[in-house]
Amino acid sequence: MLEIENLTVEVAGKEILHNVSLSVKSGYTTVLFGPNGSGKSTLLMTIMGFSGYKVRSGRILLNGEDITHLPVNERAKRGIGMMMQRPPNITGVRLKDLVRVASKGKVDIAKIAEELDMTNFLERDVNVGFSGGEIKRSEILQLTAQNPCLLLLDEPESGVDMVSIEKLGAKVRELLQGPSHCAGWRERSGKAALIITHTGQILDYVEADRGYVMCNGTVACSGNPRELLAEIRKMGYQECIRCKLNQPNLVVENVASEG
Ligand SMILES: Nc1ncnc2c1ncn2[C@@H]1O[C@H](COP(=O)(O)OP(=O)(O)O)[C@@H](O)[C@H]1O
Ligand SMILES: [Mg+2]
Repeated sequence: MLEIENLTVEVAGKEILHNVSLSVKSGYTTVLFGPNGSGKSTLLMTIMGFSGYKVRSGRILLNGEDITHLPVNERAKRGIGMMMQRPPNITGVRLKDLVRVASKGKVDIAKIAEELDMTNFLERDVNVGFSGGEIKRSEILQLTAQNPCLLLLDEPESGVDMVSIEKLGAKVRELLQGPSHCAGWRERSGKAALIITHTGQILDYVEADRGYVMCNGTVACSGNPRELLAEIRKMGYQECIRCKLNQPNLVVENVASEG
């Protein structure tokens, strides 16, 4: 469903991603690990199509369609939605209005807002003065309203306290497993997701079938996400960088469902 092929991306005149390839299957969740500054957010921003992320070479395919140069709104229409790591403040736009437009009247906003403890935020301008955890909940609220078929989540758990993380994790799981209505998507039992995680905490709430590790703007290895996380916890990211340097073509595959 989502195929990234040999993507090289430039931001502000500097090459950030080099020859990145990965895929996310319909109905499955893929996670992306990697140290700070390795290019994870850049990859998600490029998939969503934000301006400033210039694709120098390679392609992004969505259900076989080349979307590499489509504007962000066209990608959203095709079913891609994103939770940003650091979304902008939007002064003058109330959260309630943004969520209403995103949901096209199909979603009970009051109910979801209540479930996310966001009722009191609906009248406020989007993200203005929100705390870290409130921003994450606001992002999930917007995503739930949009109900995309491919979810791009950039560190959904970062900055969220222990209690709120349970609520957020449950909501992410619900969003992933709930029904969607996107034409042309062969659905398994849920939606597809590409989730960036630093801590791996989100893996307690969603079932991921595959993981990738990014280092220095490139995919260093891929495999079973829980095994990758255990390796990273034990040895840090150095081991992955070393494996990539020693054997650039080596991909550590360990995904049972790959067949
Ligand atoms: N707008 C920008 N201008 C200059 N450099 C940028 C810009 N956006 C990202 N970068 C650089 O690209 C690299 C990757 O950043 P990012 O994708 O945010 O990493 P990650 O999400 O893995 O922490 C970093 O070195 C960052 O400073
Ligand atoms: Mg990031």
